[in-house]
Amino acid sequence: MDLEEPRAWIGAARTVVVFSGAGVSAESGVPTFRGEQGLWRSYRAEDLATPAAFRRDPRLVWEWYAWRRGLVAACAPNAAHQAIAEAQLMRSGVHVVTQNVDGLHERALRARGGVPGLERSILALHGSIAHSRCSTCSYRELDEHPVDASALDRLPRCPRCGALLRPDVVWFGERLDARTLDHSFDLAAGADVCLVVGTSGLVEPAASVPRITAGAGGRVLVLGPEETALDGLADRVLRGRATELVPALFG
Ligand code: OAD
Repeated sequence: MDLEEPRAWIGAARTVVVFSGAGVSAESGVPTFRGEQGLWRSYRAEDLATPAAFRRDPRLVWEWYAWRRGLVAACAPNAAHQAIAEAQLMRSGVHVVTQNVDGLHERALRARGGVPGLERSILALHGSIAHSRCSTCSYRELDEHPVDASALDRLPRCPRCGALLRPDVVWFGERLDARTLDHSFDLAAGADVCLVVGTSGLVEPAASVPRITAGAGGRVLVLGPEETALDGLADRVLRGRATELVPALFG
């Protein structure tokens, strides 16, 4: 595959937005949502990832998230996360807007020594699976203890108000954090290049990020092994795996 031109676009860009989805973490062992091995093939989002599901059966929802937390904690950033983190450290103007809740972009940056404040250039549109927040008040915490979801009365509770804690992720039917979304759209509008990595591009409003870059005259590169809903707006579609192509684009 000829990567010379896309590499030159990235090299010359003042601002690059990496827009990532589950596929960037697939080679770390984190399951994607759609496709043959996708989570939504085996689990129903309506039962596990909606506010109504949590009201109906918080124990079941917590059981699923506790399983996913354990799974993510056992995974490590891969060569794609590392190449993006390296680019963030080596040059200015590289931002990550991710739909992933796994924290692997942030971990890749921290593993490279990080720079105070740089993690703020990683915007997690759908929240963080490692954090919990109160289902009622504004309390939020990094939750490093395993959640015991064996019974309703063992579920974690808010230290401030006593209501049930819930995973700090965005569920279907919920609004994304307005500040994070606005900031992401602003970055997308000012980006010379939006590099789309590992997303089916089916979930809005997140999928608007590359559309905004394209609409504002920036270039869009779409990278992944299969066709996506965003291929049509791409200046170049790069078919392949994230760990193979992302390091080659930034290297
Ligand atoms: P999907 O599961 O919909 O799409 C994953 C994409 O990654 C597909 O296009 C795959 O072809 C691609 N892929 C698989 N392996 C890859 C690899 N090694 N390298 C590069 N790409 C690879 O996941 P998302 O698009 O992230 O929302 O899903 C979007 C949202 O839907 C998620 O954030 C989640 C889900 O419901 C919420 O939880 C709110």
